Amino acid sequence: MPTALVTGATHGLGRALAESLAARGWDLVVTARDASSVAETVSHLRDHGHDVVGLAGDVGDAVHRDEVAEAVTDLAGARGLDLLVHNASTLGPVPLRPLRDLTTDDLAAVLAVNVLAPHALTRSLLPSLEAAGGTVIAISSDAGVEHYETWGAYGASKAALDHLTLTLAAELPTVRAYAVDPGDMRTAMHQSAFPGEDISDRPLPEEVAVPGILALVGSRPASGRYRAADLVAVATTEVAS
Ligand SMILES: NC(=O)c1ccc[n+]([C@@H]2O[C@H](COP(=O)([O-])OP(=O)(O)OC[C@H]3O[C@@H](n4cnc5c(N)ncnc54)[C@H](OP(=O)(O)O)[C@@H]3O)[C@@H](O)[C@H]2O)c1
Repeated sequence: MPTALVTGATHGLGRALAESLAARGWDLVVTARDASSVAETVSHLRDHGHDVVGLAGDVGDAVHRDEVAEAVTDLAGARGLDLLVHNASTLGPVPLRPLRDLTTDDLAAVLAVNVLAPHALTRSLLPSLEAAGGTVIAISSDAGVEHYETWGAYGASKAALDHLTLTLAAELPTVRAYAVDPGDMRTAMHQSAFPGEDISDRPLPEEVAVPGILALVGSRPASGRYRAADLVAVATTEVAS
């Protein structure tokens, strides 16, 4: 069975993606900070009959990352890790604020979770990824390329994550690496960015983002930056023709 690690897999996009991978026969390592949510998620994912390991912790914590890397290496074995999804992420302080009100500590905390943690985890897992000729997916955002007021810390972190991901692709031809913009999604993170706003018009993660990522994993095009909506449109066109 192929093996995937999905960080931040108890809610939102990470949970929906983990469910879809489990249903397709993948063995999984899943993480998030809240231990009870991790236990509940693991229990559901195991209903699909494949191996699932859950680890509670913050991706910003080096000790937790070491535990995750060890669990992944154990589960994937000599075959290696097929898919690494850097999904866990922080907006930083909410309500979102202009740069003049963003402290250096605020910015450092966002970069620690959204940039330094994925880089460190990728480094630890490179031998396993290379053994499998695996795929790295960094969940990005349109905020990584657009310049929205108050989104500076988060946007800068996603731009940096994109850059590291695509540099990895340039350095390691045996590994595919993608930055994926999932588009707006009806999740807790999105609601916390728009407090009090009705976000019911945004699609659920399983409607666009997950099908887009599954299409990417299935077709493994050239490494690069992709939008989930575009991947879904291409997949739909190919099925129709
Ligand atoms: N929602 C959107 O509209 C949107 C748009 C563009 C990009 N994105 C990106 O999509 C990804 C998923 O976002 P989402 O909206 O699905 O978020 P979400 O619904 O808030 O879920 C976030 C998940 O990550 C976990 N998590 C958060 N911080 C973590 C940390 N430091 N360490 C480990 N796990 C952590 C959460 O569990 P715990 O709280 O228990 O840790 C939860 O399982 C993120 O990379 C986000 O930047 C989202």
